[in-house]
Amino acid sequence: MASSRSLALALLFGLLSCYASVVPSLASSHGFLQCLSAAIPKPLLHTQSSPSFTSVLVSSIRNPRLFTPSTVRPLCIVTAINASHVQAAVVCGRRHDVRIRVRSGGHDYEGLSFRSERPEVFAVVDLANLRSVRVNGKAATATVESGATVGELYYAISKVSDRLAFPAGLCPTIGLGGHLSGGGFGMLLRKYGVAADHVLDATLVDANGKLMDKQAMGRDVFWALRGGGGESFGIVLSWKVKLVAIPPKLTMFRVPRSVDEGAVDMLTKWQEIAPALPEDLFIRVVVSKQVAEFQSMYLGTCDTLLPLMRGRFPELRLNRAHCREMTWIQSVPYIYLDSTATVEDILNRTTSMDTFNKATSDFVHRAIARDVWVKIFAWLVKPDAGIMIMDPYGGQIGSLPESATPFPHRAGVLYNIQYMNFWSADTDGSAQTRWLKDFYAFMAPYVSKNPREAYVNYRDLDLGRNVVVGNVTSYTAAKVWGDKYYKGNFKRLAMAKGKVDPHDYFRNEQSIPPLH
Ligand SMILES: Cc1cc2nc3c(=O)[nH]c(=O)nc-3n(C[C@H](O)[C@H](O)[C@H](O)COP(=O)(O)OP(=O)(O)OC[C@H]3O[C@@H](n4cnc5c(N)ncnc54)[C@H](O)[C@@H]3O)c2cc1C
Ligand SMILES: *[C@@H]1O[C@H](CO)[C@@H](O)[C@H](O)[C@H]1NC(C)=O
Ligand SMILES: *[C@@H]1O[C@H](CO)[C@@H](O)[C@H](O)[C@H]1NC(C)=O
Ligand SMILES: *[C@@H]1O[C@H](CO)[C@@H](O)[C@H](O)[C@H]1NC(C)=O
Repeated sequence: MASSRSLALALLFGLLSCYASVVPSLASSHGFLQCLSAAIPKPLLHTQSSPSFTSVLVSSIRNPRLFTPSTVRPLCIVTAINASHVQAAVVCGRRHDVRIRVRSGGHDYEGLSFRSERPEVFAVVDLANLRSVRVNGKAATATVESGATVGELYYAISKVSDRLAFPAGLCPTIGLGGHLSGGGFGMLLRKYGVAADHVLDATLVDANGKLMDKQAMGRDVFWALRGGGGESFGIVLSWKVKLVAIPPKLTMFRVPRSVDEGAVDMLTKWQEIAPALPEDLFIRVVVSKQVAEFQSMYLGTCDTLLPLMRGRFPELRLNRAHCREMTWIQSVPYIYLDSTATVEDILNRTTSMDTFNKATSDFVHRAIARDVWVKIFAWLVKPDAGIMIMDPYGGQIGSLPESATPFPHRAGVLYNIQYMNFWSADTDGSAQTRWLKDFYAFMAPYVSKNPREAYVNYRDLDLGRNVVVGNVTSYTAAKVWGDKYYKGNFKRLAMAKGKVDPHDYFRNEQSIPPLH
């Protein structure tokens, strides 16, 4: 009894002293805010007592799981409108020992851009208002600030040319800051690879508050920014990207097939067909309960698509009535928004915190056997089941070497799987997250191994969390999740981190640790 009480006391004091060493004193928080006030106009600085604080904080949060009464709020939010505000936040943060979380679109799957699971005082630098997009049609390039959404970039491109596009994600409200930092892929991935493959230059605010372009930051840091994950290397203010060619008319289709209509056989075949099709044809699958919906973008007309499908994937029984010919920009709301949405709706940045969710990912290198698909469909009809989204690889994404950018999931990948589960406020989500964990465990024999690869933009903290040792993130502990996201590129990322942020100022639960 006595010994357990003294153990509890020892633990408590241990915790308190450990807490005290990482949490800046009130005086340093005060000093930080004073430092910010001197450099940043009042309307751009939202402290916890500002009336605007909560509305600014929740403005881009989509997942209520990441914003609960017990979620630790930042000390303040800086809604930067130019580079000097971002630089000031970093300089003040370094001086007063307050760390920064940077947020662009706020779509991080674990909310690391606005919340911390650590006992630390931190500030958020929100780039939502740093969002200009300039498209140069002649050069086929765009310069885009990190706070712009992919929808805003797509729209601006379409206003300049119907022959240009950018190969990034499907959801129009994703921020470019986080998206390009983690790779970024969508319906054009087989033709053009990941979004980060198309970055020509970037402007970075480093841990000293200095502005650097590609030349100034050097080869390794510039490499690291293109897929090495957000937050770790500094704050990217803007990106210059290469646009890609697109025909003026594409053909889209969405064909749902139930198990009764042969979905098991179709999926079994799809695994080998979809990654080997011509690069102009992309067919993804969203599986929910007993229905697999095949969603496709073809860079051509229905007249050429039909014979191609008859030759390569007759099992799907595609016919002319399934074809929807449209422009690339029209395909964005067609695939992601509801059927009444217009092209202008992809500019709508308003998100709502409606469904709680949790996700994780896998990569498949060997086709999964038919009898396993039967079992998978049994998992998907369990009471608290979620969904599977599968994007086929092959084509351009697989043709670059693994070390071309930090995004390593290239040759040999048949497809990516995203598992996602949803729930509403009337449950605590434990049954749904349990289903996700159990299904992920069930899938282990059928997906990539050593490492079991995962996609950093579908961030999952259950893959591993950082440990800080002596005020620096541990490389050994980080390797557990780092190998999954980056495979053989992880060490090079850590070396780049060691160059640009040797003191590990920019860090979070899954940031790259510095190596020297
Ligand atoms: C509804 C939804 C749909 C999605 N669809 C797709 C898809 O089709 N394809 C795909 O590839 N991904 C998709 N994603 C995942 C998405 O690509 C990632 O969540 C991405 O990181 C979001 O970027 P963000 O700027 O919106 O997020 P944020 O939450 O702002 O940032 C994500 C991470 O990057 C850091 N970061 C943000 N801005 C910067 C910056 N300027 N400089 C340095 N670090 C920064 C943050 O600190 C955080 O760690 C989707 C996500 C959601 C929620
Ligand atoms: C950035 O904003 C500050 C006001 O906070 C202003 O003084 C400065 O001129 C602006 N800089 C640029 C480059 O627009
Ligand atoms: C923008 O989207 C939100 C949330 O989906 C919706 O409530 C709102 O009506 C939309 N605004 C416009 C102008 O369409
Ligand atoms: C921890 O590191 C930060 C910089 O990353 C530094 O400002 C701070 O002083 C360090 N704290 C301790 C206790 O060493």
